[in-house]
Amino acid sequence: MTFVVTENCIQCKYTDCVEVCPVDCFYEGPNFLVIDPDECIDCALCEPECPAEAIFSEDELPKGQEEFIEINAELAEEWPNIAEKKDPLPDAEEWDGKTGKIDKLER
Ligand code: SF4
Ligand code: F3S
Repeated sequence: MTFVVTENCIQCKYTDCVEVCPVDCFYEGPNFLVIDPDECIDCALCEPECPAEAIFSEDELPKGQEEFIEINAELAEEWPNIAEKKDPLPDAEEWDGKTGKIDKLER
């Protein structure tokens, strides 16, 4: 079991999540974060920390977000680790809650 970062993180990237993860299993891309499913210990600490409500347990994913299971697993292998909070992306508030953001995902 793992937790998964879903679409609403894209273009927001608040990074509050990384501060609470006891095993530092977040990885950072240009406009999105992912969780390494092999490292996540399923502690659930990150879920309530995300201002964009983008983090879910893989067995409680909202409808339509299933593809993010594979996206997290794949990009965690490619992107560098992030363990310290940084500023969100400049237009985070504007993008928070928008749909169709997967088209904006930069790899
Ligand atoms: Fe880290 Fe726990 Fe969130 Fe998994 S559920 S990413 S271990 S804080
Ligand atoms: Fe993304 Fe939420 Fe973390 S927006 S960077 S999953 S705090």
